[in-house]
Amino acid sequence: MKPWTAADIPPQTGKTALVTGANSGIGYHTALELARAGASVIMACRNPAKAEEALKRLKAEIPGAKVELAALDLSSLASVRAFGAAFDARAVPLDILVNNAGIMAPLSRKTSPDGFEIQMATNHLGHFLLTALLLPALKRAPAPRVVTVASIAHRRGKIDFDDLMGERRYSPFSSYAQTKLANLLFAFELQRRAGAALTSVAAHPGVAMTKIVENGMGGGKPTALTRVMGFFAPLFSHSEEAGALPSLYAATMPVEPGAYYGTDGFREMTGAPVRVDSAPASKDPAAAARLWDVSVQLSGADYSGL
Ligand SMILES: NC(=O)c1ccc[n+]([C@@H]2O[C@H](COP(=O)([O-])OP(=O)(O)OC[C@H]3O[C@@H](n4cnc5c(N)ncnc54)[C@H](OP(=O)(O)O)[C@@H]3O)[C@@H](O)[C@H]2O)c1
Repeated sequence: MKPWTAADIPPQTGKTALVTGANSGIGYHTALELARAGASVIMACRNPAKAEEALKRLKAEIPGAKVELAALDLSSLASVRAFGAAFDARAVPLDILVNNAGIMAPLSRKTSPDGFEIQMATNHLGHFLLTALLLPALKRAPAPRVVTVASIAHRRGKIDFDDLMGERRYSPFSSYAQTKLANLLFAFELQRRAGAALTSVAAHPGVAMTKIVENGMGGGKPTALTRVMGFFAPLFSHSEEAGALPSLYAATMPVEPGAYYGTDGFREMTGAPVRVDSAPASKDPAAAARLWDVSVQLSGADYSGL
């Protein structure tokens, strides 16, 4: 069978999609292809200059695309709340939410404005709160879908409930893997709690040549370490465009609620989108429920409208 590509996305005209971290990497290509398929796309980004540049690039590729920018810093609960309130005030339906933005493995421990470890704040808690705030908009859509972007790194993840923020011991990759496991626990628990109210699925891009190493380990710029990693990356990774395909598949194709989509290549590092399995730790309903409660406490998210 021919591998699934962005050309196979069904028409999305009439739908509204919101992609977090849409100015770069996988998020940019997710926004681009959703717009090409006819969706109205909101690119939620934290850096206005990078966002403007990405919008310009997208519009140059798809003249007439229905795309707008919105300011959202997922590491700040205040920013997420402000974004949620502004979006709610529009009283429009939201068909597709792609929880994509992420940061990977800063070499030293960094904290968010709310004092949380930056990866936990951005990758998990920000999206946890955002999804709750967007529930009214999602529920206005006829068949709302939430796609949460995880990673094969979740397999190395462990939720350390005694030291969730790495205060006692910080390891860049363990902390990242913990957040990607949290993304899966969240996506699956959201589906369990939502029932027929919405479809929650997860996706991972394999290993894609984005700015994720430079943005996280490099602290936003190329370093000797990121250059070395960049040199070897083509051996085991694919393009940003290919990395966006599992998210696009999960967002637009008929899917199994609560399923996880990744890539079909060696160790799921590259390849075409396909349904994949996840580690047993991601399917532990007790851990998912515990993480949910902790996340409600930390973020103040209100899921009573589910
Ligand atoms: N690339 C891979 O191989 C790979 C593998 C597995 C999973 N993933 C996942 O894929 C997703 C996208 O990553 P990518 O590879 O496309 O990396 P990327 O090129 O670094 O893009 C990450 C995006 O997230 C945004 N972001 C970071 N912190 C944010 C914050 N506090 N608020 C709002 N936006 C924020 C970034 O904005 P700025 O440009 O302003 O920093 C950027 O737009 C992440 O969830 C990542 O964990 C990637």
